Amino acid sequence: MLEGRIALVTGAGSGIGAAIAQRLAREGAKVWVTDRDPAAAERVAKAIAAEGGRARAQPVDVTRRADLEAARDAAYAEDGRVDIVVANAGVSTMRPFLDLTDEDWDFNFTVNAKGVFYTLQTFARRMKDQPLMAGSELRGKLIATASMAARQAAPLLAHYSASKFAVLGLVQAAAKELAPFKLTVNAVNPGFVRTSMQEREVRWEAELRGITPEEVIADYLRQTPLGRLETPEDVAGVVAFLAGPDADFITGEAIEANGGAWIF
Ligand SMILES: NC(=O)c1ccc[n+]([C@@H]2O[C@H](COP(=O)([O-])OP(=O)(O)OC[C@H]3O[C@@H](n4cnc5c(N)ncnc54)[C@H](O)[C@@H]3O)[C@@H](O)[C@H]2O)c1
Repeated sequence: MLEGRIALVTGAGSGIGAAIAQRLAREGAKVWVTDRDPAAAERVAKAIAAEGGRARAQPVDVTRRADLEAARDAAYAEDGRVDIVVANAGVSTMRPFLDLTDEDWDFNFTVNAKGVFYTLQTFARRMKDQPLMAGSELRGKLIATASMAARQAAPLLAHYSASKFAVLGLVQAAAKELAPFKLTVNAVNPGFVRTSMQEREVRWEAELRGITPEEVIADYLRQTPLGRLETPEDVAGVVAFLAGPDADFITGEAIEANGGAWIF
């Protein structure tokens, strides 16, 4: 489905980003696997190569424009274009609203909102001038990993939620402004996904609520009508759809992938 396409994923060294990179590679894309942690990016790129896919690792901290520009320039120098960009890198902390600190606010907003802004803008500035993708009416596709928390705020996550609401505003505005350049911009909103971020959050939430980690997980399951935790691959499938030709006429959209945990 993505044969010959060039993709770049941020925060691809673990969790959802790693699953997205692997899925795009299985669909035939060459993937630039980027992460703030160079060793993690390298591991994922090697795993892709080991199953016959094409991947390159590149260290990128999405809070640094220079890192993103260097990755963009490396991809254009080697491949001549970038067809698919997935702004996936994100972080979280948990704190009751009344105890939130400047550090919580700045950390979440700098990575989650500004990092997505930097990523989309850096790549769109080059992608808008590249030829159309082979066999497509589009020049390229930009996709952001937002969150169910971009739709429905959760206790202890006011700052995270606000940063993810910001991502959807950015995606909608960018979609309108970049459509004339034949670039689409969409988001995926995952729910309760089994990753290292979730492991950290379960520990924090258990401590903050005075319950056990098992009770926190049971609460996630109670909130999810489909009755299981989400896997990174569940999210990656939606990203592959948005990156593929069946989604060519979708822009400014955010797809809910959460097992029914948030239904509008
Ligand atoms: N896990 C969930 O339940 C869940 C739910 C909804 C949305 N999300 C979102 O999905 C995305 C991925 O989350 P995950 O659960 O896979 O997290 P994770 O912590 O497992 O992986 C995140 C990856 O991003 C990298 N990263 C962190 N800060 C970075 C930065 N400044 N620059 C570049 N890379 C950076 C980390 O090194 C790590 O490899 C995030 O945007 C997160 O907010 C996660």
